[in-house]
Amino acid sequence: MKKIAIIGCGNMGLIYANSFLRYKITSKENLLLVEKNTERQNSLSAMNIGKVVTVTDILISHCDIVILAVKPQDFKDLAQDLKQVINPNSVVLSIMAGTEISFIQAQLNHPLIVRAMPNLPVEISMGMTAYSASNELAHDKMMLVENLLSTTGRTLYLKEEKQLNAVTALSGSGPAYFFYFMKYLVDAGISMGLDEHVSSILAKQTMLGSFHLINNGQKTLDEYIASVTSKGGTTEAALKIFNEHQMGSVIVTALLSAEQRAEELSIK
Ligand SMILES: NC(=O)c1ccc[n+]([C@@H]2O[C@H](COP(=O)([O-])OP(=O)(O)OC[C@H]3O[C@@H](n4cnc5c(N)ncnc54)[C@H](OP(=O)(O)O)[C@@H]3O)[C@@H](O)[C@H]2O)c1
Repeated sequence: MKKIAIIGCGNMGLIYANSFLRYKITSKENLLLVEKNTERQNSLSAMNIGKVVTVTDILISHCDIVILAVKPQDFKDLAQDLKQVINPNSVVLSIMAGTEISFIQAQLNHPLIVRAMPNLPVEISMGMTAYSASNELAHDKMMLVENLLSTTGRTLYLKEEKQLNAVTALSGSGPAYFFYFMKYLVDAGISMGLDEHVSSILAKQTMLGSFHLINNGQKTLDEYIASVTSKGGTTEAALKIFNEHQMGSVIVTALLSAEQRAEELSIK
C-alpha cells in the first residue's frame, strides 16, 4: 500500500482522502492527514480515516506521495516546515490553483512535482483533472500520481504547464458556467408558468440526455444543433435570439478573460 500525506484537509483534501480509501489506493493506516486547524483536526480524528498530524511530523518523510491541498497563499509558510521533513524520493502533488511547478520546486528545494487542476465534480468521482509534471519525474512515479488522480474522475496529462491556465478557465471554472446556464433555463420555465420542480427536472434531464448523446453519438456539435432545429420552428426562434446577442462570442470572450485572470494570478 502506498503511503500518502495530504497537507491541508479542508474541502479538497478530504475529498481526496475519501476517494483514495474508496478505491483502496491506500489504507487508513497509511494515510496521513496533515492539518493545522485544531477544529478540523478534531473532526478528522472523529472520522477515523487516517492519522491526523501536523506538518513537522517525521512520518511525512516515509510517504511516497505528499499532496499539497492548502490555499496558495498558505504555501510559502508551509514550505518552510515541509522542506525539513520531506523525503527526496517523494512525489509532491499540488492541487493549489495557479502555483507554478518552478515556484514549488524552489520553495521546497525538491525536484519531483506534479501540478494538477481538478474541478468540483471530483466530489462524486466525476471530476476532470488536468496535470503537468516536472521533467525530473520518472514514468513509474507519474503513473502513481495518475492512479491517485483517476480515483476522482477523468485525468489528462499536459506536457505544457502553461496550458493549465486554459484548463482553469474551461474545466476548472466550467461547473459554474453550467450551473449559470441551468439557473436561467429553470427561471425561463418558471416564467412560462411551470412549477420550479417541474422546470428543474426538465432542465436537468435535458442536460444529462444531451451530454450522453454527444458523448456516445457520431455527429458533430453543429450536426446535433441542426438535428433539433427545423426551419421556422421553436429551436430556430430561440437560437435566433442567441445569435442576435452574439452569445457564442460572449462565451469565448468570457473564457479568454478567465484564462487571462489565471495568468495574472499565477504564483511564479
Ligand atoms: N475547491 C475547488 O473546487 C478547487 C478546485 C481546484 C483547486 N482547488 C485548490 O485546492 C486547494 C484547497 O482548497 P480548499 O477549498 O480545500 O481549501 P480549504 O477548505 O481552506 O482547506 C485548506 C486547509 O488547509 C489548512 N492549512 C493551511 N495551512 C496549513 C499548514 N501549514 N499545515 C496544515 N494545514 C494547513 C487550512 O487551515 P485554516 O483553515 O486554519 O487555514 C484548511 O483547513 C486550494 O489551493 C485551491 O486552489 C480547489
